[in-house]
Amino acid sequence: MDILYSALVFLHMLGLAGIIAGFLMQLMTDNAKAPKVLLHSSLLQFVTGLLLVGVAEMADLSELDHVKIAVKLVVALAVVVLGVLNLRKPARNLAIVAGVLAVVNIGVAVFW
Ligand code: HEM
Repeated sequence: MDILYSALVFLHMLGLAGIIAGFLMQLMTDNAKAPKVLLHSSLLQFVTGLLLVGVAEMADLSELDHVKIAVKLVVALAVVVLGVLNLRKPARNLAIVAGVLAVVNIGVAVFW
């Protein structure tokens, strides 16, 4: 289970890097693929987050703070919704809010 948990944390960190990369791509270069990078990374982040919680609970790996997880879940869901809207009709403001919310979630993960 430890290796599975580590693999999920690894993917969770890649998802985080992808969201920030998509956000910066859209803001700095207006690259046409940026909205896809942002959305797919936010989905990866959302799914790996849920799986991390599942594995941690099943294997009793770590004591999770459920309020913190709920906050992260809501913020991550907002990032996914913004990602979908941004893919349908790309807009800098949507990318900015998605990027800022992802950074907020990093703060929640690290400081809570
Ligand atoms: C934009 C969305 C997200 C971002 C930016 C994010 C960021 C992070 C970061 C930076 C860490 C490492 C922190 C640490 O180990 O101290 C982490 C760990 C974790 N995240 Fe997320 N996360 C997001 C979404 C989610 C979601 C939706 C869930 C679950 C519903 C989740 C559950 C977890 C769990 C269980 C850990 C491991 C915590 C631990 O082992 O102490 N994350 N996340």
